[in-house]
Amino acid sequence: MASSKSYDIKDATLAEPGRRRIQWASREMPVMNLLRERFAAEKPLSGIRIAACLHVTTETANLALTLKAGGAELMLCASNPLSTQDDVAAALVDYGIPTSAIKGEDAVTYYEHISNAVSQKPQITVDDGADLVTTLHTKREDLIGNLIGGTEETTTGVIRLRSLEKAGGLRYPIIAVNDAQTKYLFDNRYGTGQSTIDGITRATNILWAGKKVVVCGYGWCGHGIAMRARGHGAHVIVTEVEPVRALEAVMDGYQVMPLMEAAAVGDIFVTISGDKNVIDKPHLQAMKDGAILANSGHFNVEINIPALENLSSGRREARPFVEEYTLCDGRRLFLLGEGRLINLAAAEGHPASVMDMSFANQALCIEHLVKSQGKLKTRVHSVPVEIDRQVARLKLDAMGISIDTLTPEQEKYLKSWQEGT
Ligand SMILES: NC(=O)c1ccc[n+]([C@@H]2O[C@H](COP(=O)([O-])OP(=O)(O)OC[C@H]3O[C@@H](n4cnc5c(N)ncnc54)[C@H](O)[C@@H]3O)[C@@H](O)[C@H]2O)c1
Repeated sequence: MASSKSYDIKDATLAEPGRRRIQWASREMPVMNLLRERFAAEKPLSGIRIAACLHVTTETANLALTLKAGGAELMLCASNPLSTQDDVAAALVDYGIPTSAIKGEDAVTYYEHISNAVSQKPQITVDDGADLVTTLHTKREDLIGNLIGGTEETTTGVIRLRSLEKAGGLRYPIIAVNDAQTKYLFDNRYGTGQSTIDGITRATNILWAGKKVVVCGYGWCGHGIAMRARGHGAHVIVTEVEPVRALEAVMDGYQVMPLMEAAAVGDIFVTISGDKNVIDKPHLQAMKDGAILANSGHFNVEINIPALENLSSGRREARPFVEEYTLCDGRRLFLLGEGRLINLAAAEGHPASVMDMSFANQALCIEHLVKSQGKLKTRVHSVPVEIDRQVARLKLDAMGISIDTLTPEQEKYLKSWQEGT
């Protein structure tokens, strides 16, 4: 594995504030703290080489410390060029976890960091967007023999991996952590909901009340963003391509219409679809002067930025994370955070309390991969239901909330078909 010198960070002197912020996040991560204690005692990952490509945030640092406590040899790189918290990267190196991640790194450096992580011959990959798996399958097939398995954190990564599996190309088992209920119901919905509003607010300082906010995509993340924008007093319009989700948005009380219609009336547009060119040239041409464009989906492809550039006669930075594009007809459109996930670019990503559950799933799935070495089929697996329920139980315990249990009579009744009214 890499020596503790094999890292690339912005500034090592940021380690101390980074440490303090990691400790602050840890206060809201009781499940992760419990797992860390158990991992430290049992060492379930002893000597296992793990490459993790994740947003380098305070919450990720807490996961990294848990894996290290469990005996893993961990190497970390960023899963997005703009999501790294440089003080956290510095603190991780100080904790002895080789980390290669710099906020604002260019595409070449971003892929160099991934390639560096992969070249450490990991036995487990931990992805957020499937860039490690993709690199191993396309450029470093020679290393695939070392792999026990991998985990995937986000919807877009799971989609890529399922498509690789369908094409017959997947070479080692992956657990789709995103698809655990204790992940997407909380992280995607409440985490993305709150932190996306936070990112847009920090970047622009706008008042949400009275604004027309267009949410493109009504998946779990879209649910959260629409809900929180409405909570701030915005008038929310949802656009969708999938009829059931569009219907759900209607019944949840939002206005639903094609984006071409919404384009002319929206004040703020947020893409959260995992799809490409959702906001395209005709939409940009129809928008009002002053419209704000943000993306919270995984890749920066949801807003057609090249089209925006082509339509523009000039651009300037209006404020940090706000790029003002002046169109040839004089209208101005404001693109936030270079079209990259705005909650991580301009804010701090999800609050620690939800990442507690997402990353508890990660830690337990990694332990499961190690325990099941050689037994799992080469495909994309769901998170074992026992892990999902264990995370929910531990989180409830930590919140001091107890729930009812079925009586033997109820258990029998719920399994039977004989009894009616
Ligand atoms: N910002 C973050 O921190 C964060 C956190 C979790 C997930 N994500 C990412 O957010 C994206 C969405 O995740 P999700 O879990 O909500 O996914 P999802 O699959 O549940 O929902 C996506 C929705 O977008 C819709 N859609 C697709 N193309 C569209 C189009 N052209 N116009 C309108 N709607 C369209 C789909 O029909 C679907 O309902 C993914 O890229 C995911 O990786 C980001």
